[in-house]
Formats: sequence, structure tokens, C-alpha cells
Amino acid sequence: MRALTITRYGPPEVLAIRESRDPVPGPGQVCIRVARAGLNFADVSARVGLYPDAPKPPVVMGYEVSGTVAALGEGVSSPPVGTRVLAMTRFGGQATHALADARYVLPLPDGMDLDQAAALPVNWLTAHHMLHRVANLRPGMTLLVHMAAGGVGLAAIGLARAVGGVSLFGTASASKHPVLREAGVDHPIDYRTQDYVAEVKRLTGGRGVDLALDALGGPEWARNTSVLAPGGQLICFGWANATSGESRNLLKVATGLATMKRWNALDLMSRNITVSGVNVGHLWSEAEMMRATLDALLALWREGKVRSHIDRVYPLEEGPAAHRRMHERKNVGKILFDCA
Ligand SMILES: NC(=O)c1ccc[n+]([C@@H]2O[C@H](COP(=O)([O-])OP(=O)(O)OC[C@H]3O[C@@H](n4cnc5c(N)ncnc54)[C@H](OP(=O)(O)O)[C@@H]3O)[C@@H](O)[C@H]2O)c1
Repeated sequence: MRALTITRYGPPEVLAIRESRDPVPGPGQVCIRVARAGLNFADVSARVGLYPDAPKPPVVMGYEVSGTVAALGEGVSSPPVGTRVLAMTRFGGQATHALADARYVLPLPDGMDLDQAAALPVNWLTAHHMLHRVANLRPGMTLLVHMAAGGVGLAAIGLARAVGGVSLFGTASASKHPVLREAGVDHPIDYRTQDYVAEVKRLTGGRGVDLALDALGGPEWARNTSVLAPGGQLICFGWANATSGESRNLLKVATGLATMKRWNALDLMSRNITVSGVNVGHLWSEAEMMRATLDALLALWREGKVRSHIDRVYPLEEGPAAHRRMHERKNVGKILFDCA
């Protein structure tokens, strides 16, 4: 097999294709001949050395794939060899072959292509978990999505559209606003030239929003609580701002940690706000819950309500270009690898 490998921490050029023997599935596992693998921001953070969950280099990242079942491990009888599937992989997905826990391997519904299949697991699962398990998004609510033109951002917007009657605010570079409008964002905000706090306040007549999703992190988490309406909720689910340079800057991370807002219960109580945290990567042991969310997403897909905006599909060999595109904030929606 061939695999896109982070050989050491550093700029995109540390990525290289490494060859090794095809993996053999262990008990409870499925080996997938990968057609497409998703790129996620976590992979960029891992390459820089700022993703504590990732194994140390050399490491093959990749949380999600689509392809066909190549072999079944002991105790696994389905999906049968040859079935077209999507799967969540705990690393190792960006390769020609990948191993997955059988509980996270789902046959593709009729009509779902391999691009849509690989783009679904991480972005949509994260967005669905936030909107429908951690929060309770309902018609009539106001929602602010940061990094709105990214993979998770557009998934959250798609799911909010599926709820209906949600007033949507999204921050992104101005060049991406046409895509946001088409996706259903009522108020795109160019965070590079506008203060989103002032803009959200202005657009809501000073009230603020009911729910804000923030993976920017650092000081933005505190700033986002200032745009919450009474009874509002902030969900913190990433710290993208820590991964801004090509190499890791531990001083910047340490400063960010030292100055990060710590909430206390009395403060939350008196302000009538909720601050929640989400890391779906720490929910692997909750297979029943994760699987229920994936099944709900496939049902929404059948209704035409889940569709990913595919930014680009790169050959696995062009890993550095794919990483650079995401790291330089050029992508709109999902970046995939062609692993065939
Ligand atoms: N906690 C979880 O379970 C979980 C799961 C999945 C993802 N996440 C987090 O969600 C965030 C989005 O992930 P994704 O994979 O969907 O990536 P993505 O949003 O597709 O890619 C990054 C995009 O976000 C925007 N952006 C705004 N500020 C940025 C910054 N400081 N650094 C980099 N990009 C910035 C850029 O667009 P503009 O041109 O608009 O700036 C860029 O194109 C990441 O922080 C990721 O770690 C968390």
C-alpha cells in the first residue's frame, strides 16, 4: 500500500508517500480499498505538531474514507467484501488501504458517489452532534457559524437549513460570501475587515445570537460569549488560530493558554449563557451514539438535505499542495484525496 505520511513536524513538504505491506484486519476490523480520503484541519495541525491526539511522526493521518471492502477481520461478517462503503478511521485513512472498526463502516446508500461519501463523516458528524445533541437548534433561532465556508462550517449551515426558519450568520473571507449566500447564510461577515462582534450586534438590534459555533479559539471564545443573546450558547470545538504559522510556535501556544478565558459558574449564571465543548475525536468509545448520528445523516442524505461542497480532489501524491491550500485558507468546503 501507499500512504501519505507526515515524516516529521513542519511545513507541507514534510509529507511524503511511503510504501508498506497491505494491512491485515484484526478482530472487529474491516480493511478498505480506499477510493477517497478526507482532509481535515486536524491533519494540518498534526503536521505542524499541534494536535496532541495524533501519534508522533512518522504518522499517516486521515479520519474518513470511502471505497470498497477488501477484507474482514475475525468476528466481522458484514458489509461483505466488495461492498461500497464510507468509514471513519482512527488515523491511517490517507492511503490506498485503511483499517476501520466495523462499527464505523457503513454501506453507501443508492446514488451516493465516492466523493460525497468521503466528505460526510467528520464534517457532518461534528456539525450534527453540535446542533442536535449538544445544542437544540430549532426554527426561530439565530445561529453564528465561524469558518463558515469550511467543511464543518458548510455542514452546519446545511443542517440549519434542514431545520428551517433559522437566521444564519457566518464569518468567512469576502471572496467566499457568494458560496455562503447560496448555502443559505443570511448575513455573511468578512472577519478580515469587520469586527464580527459589532456586526452581529448591529444586525440583531443589540440582542445577539442564540447559538455560536467557534473553532477559532483563544481570545475568540471569550469574544463570542459577548455576542450571545440571553439564554444563548457557545460551542467551542477547535483552536485553529494556534495553527497559523508553517511550524509550531510553542511560545504562542503557551501565551494563548495563559491568557485564555476561564469561565466560572457564577459568571455563566448571572449572564444566562452556556459554554459547551465538543471533540468528536474523543467519542470513539461511544460507538452507539456516533453510529446513531451517522445513520441520521444518511437518512438526511436520502432526503437530499446533506450535500457536501467539494473544494478539490488531489491525488495522494499531491499531499503538500492539499495541506497548503487548507492552511492558507483557500479552500471552500471539503478537500479530498484520490487514493485509487
Ligand atoms: N472538535 C471537533 O470534534 C472537531 C471536528 C472537526 C473539525 N474541528 C475543527 O473545526 C475547524 C474547521 O475544520 P475543517 O476541517 O472544516 O477546516 P476548514 O474549515 O475546511 O478549513 C479552514 C477554513 O477556515 C477558515 N479560517 C478562519 N480562520 C482560520 C484560521 N485561523 N486558520 C485556518 N483557517 C481559518 C478559512 O477560510 P476563510 O477564508 O473564511 O478564513 C479556511 O479556508 C478546525 O478548527 C477543526 O480543528 C473540530
